[in-house]
Amino acid sequence: MHPIQIADGIYDVGVNDWNVRDFHGYSTPTGTTYNAFLIMDEKIALIDTVKKEFANQLIKNITEIVPLEKIDYVISNHTEMDHSGGLPSIMHRIGKDKPLYCSKMGHKNLAMHYRNKWNYHAVENGEELNLGKRQLTFLEARMLHWPDSMLTYEKTDKILFSSDAFGQHYAGYEKFDDQIDAESLLHHSKKYFANIILLYAGQVQKLLKSVNDMGLSFNMICPDHGIIWRKNPNIILDAYAQWSEPIYTKKAVVVYDTMWQSTKIMAEQICEGIVSEGVNVRPMNLRTNHRSDIMTELLDASALVVGSPTLNNNVYPTVSDFLTYMKGLRPQNKLAACFGSYGWNGASIKILNSELASMKFKMIDETGLKIQYVPGEKGLNASYEYGQTIAKAICHLLQ
Ligand code: FEO
Repeated sequence: MHPIQIADGIYDVGVNDWNVRDFHGYSTPTGTTYNAFLIMDEKIALIDTVKKEFANQLIKNITEIVPLEKIDYVISNHTEMDHSGGLPSIMHRIGKDKPLYCSKMGHKNLAMHYRNKWNYHAVENGEELNLGKRQLTFLEARMLHWPDSMLTYEKTDKILFSSDAFGQHYAGYEKFDDQIDAESLLHHSKKYFANIILLYAGQVQKLLKSVNDMGLSFNMICPDHGIIWRKNPNIILDAYAQWSEPIYTKKAVVVYDTMWQSTKIMAEQICEGIVSEGVNVRPMNLRTNHRSDIMTELLDASALVVGSPTLNNNVYPTVSDFLTYMKGLRPQNKLAACFGSYGWNGASIKILNSELASMKFKMIDETGLKIQYVPGEKGLNASYEYGQTIAKAICHLLQ
């Protein structure tokens, strides 16, 4: 894509990665974008770059506006290589002596990534850079989501260049929030939060508080991935405020895999039991639902119910994969329960119980529900009633 002017003299010179389908275990069915921003003023600044593979496209985009050697400053808000991979090409072409602005941790981390002696300028939180008519302020955003993360605020037009925060893994020809269906945009943002930002919910709250304390307001929020917020940036600020707190809605997510259909039958009966008590439920078979979509559904659910058959004295591999992924994201303050069928050793239920308890889920009971081989009438009733028990626990939590 060609550069797009997003404000007077400010361009998005980033690229679309249409073909990426997996981003660190997160499914990206439409691809993603690596946004980078060029500010044309008395001094010219480039904010962030792109993945190494797209560096030539970035260079082409910039040179449609200005020769590379005219760039005065490069600002690296974040070291992760989807935003810094183009730095070696850019620094080589604009001149290695040009100042590279980053956080103190950014300096440390960029040096370890690229082993280059660039002219680093490690900024203090709140430090300013005057470009002429425009002035930039650097805001430390440590652990949102890397130690080096910072944001850059442009005062005149109140534009926040927000690095990974407030983004979405979405690639399209749309560039702004008023060009895309609002519900779809919020869903992409929610998925991004649930799979990338959730672990750093505390840092989100700190950031929102410090923005509030500093009296900052934004006319535009420009993340490094996806769509730019200009119609109403408060939508994403409010969503982050909500998602970064524990959320309780009348909803359960039932995640499972099955070997000979018995655990699936149990899952279906459990879902029926949950619904019978007026609680919403999302049944999510791990063979047909991606782990990152499950995390998205879990974000506003009150309870997680996990089902696995016992395979070789263990849980099913897909279930294990999901638990590992979820453990890293640390969802907080949710109820949990587990179930599964077994042949002669019901080890999976014990393992599920212990894994979920170790992740600080509040277990609805200590045993879970296990049924040997194939559920008969008694097993079907027990599963239905287990669903009702789960629903009642959710209703009790919400009282
Ligand atoms: Fe989009 Fe943390 O990089």
